[in-house]
Amino acid sequence: MADREARNILSIRGMCKSFGRNRVLDHINFDVREGTIMGLMGENGAGKSTMMKCLFGTYQKDEGTILLDGKEVNFSGPKDALENGVAMVHQELNQCLERNVLDNLFLGRYPKNSMGIVDENRMRNEASDLFRKLNMTVNLTVPMKTMSVSARQMVEIAKAISYNAKLIVLDEPTSSLTVREVAKLFEMMRNLKAQGISLVYISHKMDEIFEICDQVSVLRDGKLVLTRRTADTNMNELIAAMVGRTLDNRFPPVDNTPGDVVLSVQHLSTKYEPNLKDISFDVREGEIFGLYGLVGAGRSELLETMFGVRTRAAGRVYYKGRLMNFNSSKDAMDHGFAMITEERKATGLFLEGDLTFNTTITNLTHYMSGVALSRDKMVKATANQINIMHTKCMGPSDSITALSGGNQQKVIFGKWLERDPSVFLMDEPTRGIDVGAKYEIYELIIKMAKMGKAIIVVSSEMPEILGITNRIGVMSNGRLAGIVNTAQTNQEELLTLSTKYL
Ligand SMILES: Nc1ncnc2c1ncn2[C@@H]1O[C@H](COP(=O)(O)OP(=O)(O)OP(=O)(O)O)[C@@H](O)[C@H]1O
Ligand SMILES: [Mg+2]
Repeated sequence: MADREARNILSIRGMCKSFGRNRVLDHINFDVREGTIMGLMGENGAGKSTMMKCLFGTYQKDEGTILLDGKEVNFSGPKDALENGVAMVHQELNQCLERNVLDNLFLGRYPKNSMGIVDENRMRNEASDLFRKLNMTVNLTVPMKTMSVSARQMVEIAKAISYNAKLIVLDEPTSSLTVREVAKLFEMMRNLKAQGISLVYISHKMDEIFEICDQVSVLRDGKLVLTRRTADTNMNELIAAMVGRTLDNRFPPVDNTPGDVVLSVQHLSTKYEPNLKDISFDVREGEIFGLYGLVGAGRSELLETMFGVRTRAAGRVYYKGRLMNFNSSKDAMDHGFAMITEERKATGLFLEGDLTFNTTITNLTHYMSGVALSRDKMVKATANQINIMHTKCMGPSDSITALSGGNQQKVIFGKWLERDPSVFLMDEPTRGIDVGAKYEIYELIIKMAKMGKAIIVVSSEMPEILGITNRIGVMSNGRLAGIVNTAQTNQEELLTLSTKYL
């Protein structure tokens, strides 16, 4: 077995880290045995990413020691860490989207030939070898921006592996991967482990932790509160450790009563891949309508087309009998539509702004005092949203980049709530959000439904789509394969429908 008397490849002792007055890590002790996979869990803002960034040299710890393979290390930055056997795949990808895969792979370490010129052939060969070994097909010369989030994530993982690291940290790597890609990633991880490489695996997904990790540690409010072999623990124990109490149900009761049809989508089609083919469905007032399907089935495209950011080839959308064929997101927003996008960093947030800016930006006319914007009103509204969403932060003037990934997502929610939309389109609204906060978001979705909003939720998580919707439309290869009543369906039926047109 992997964890027989193995040495610790990593030993963190008494590590502390604060940002200003905010103590994020409080005397952490954390060990990873050689050739094992250590899971790391905890609520949004618990300190998981910060702890690993202190190891990686992105942040400097305030106190404590880090032993790598028995020797004390103190990396001055990521480059230092990479050169000494530690690699990290970050939660929020930081790639040069304008450059191609090769450039991103070799950034900062271009191989040179004897003339001191960048050796492109060598780059190409090494990269091809790498992807072949990982059993991945990637076009090396296309710009990253043309690739899907999941493909970009796989490139990032390949890059970490290419450094021949002894220890690889993966910070929520599967949040945008398909089931098949996750399986591939796990196979890769098992291979690495078999070679004696150690991994730290950060995830909010319980089933993944139990599937792939030998051990698991839980952080709560900057303290390491539990470490167990995965074989010796269970989901309830981990949840209790994370949230400090037991959660009896993962989903609140869906007790809204949908009214008349308000939203009607008729024969919607698009031209470009993956194209929508003749999609028709209705959503009632106060209804939560789920959209299930495999990645690539066209769910995001459907929301984007309804929201006016993707071009229609044919079809119509009506709300309360009025035509809503939008040609821009502004048009959609002006008519009471809201959309939470899948890729929060790219399309949901202004990273230079503070919480107040990000919460109020889509709604500025609300905060006028006479002819001028009232910062006071904006801050008040933001404080209110922080309250409703239980966003973990110091206050409305925090910069958005100071928030943990999951808490950034809550800010996006708060921003849209401020606009009080009548139609709310949500693309994977709880991606990257911890179990406790997920429950709060579910409650919020149900509350909005009870206020009469029409809600469409795209989710790839089967329990979620079955747990919080009234009806579910299943998409398959750009078509609507069927619509089912949530109370009368099951996982099998959804899966069968999702493969109907493959
Ligand atoms: N650069 C920074 N400046 C100020 N505060 C920060 C910074 N980075 C993180 N924090 C704060 O540290 C705390 C821990 O954040 P961290 O990103 O480590 O959480 P996490 O456990 O990774 O959460 P998530 O699951 O949401 O990714 C949060 O309260 C966050 O606001
Ligand atoms: Mg994080």
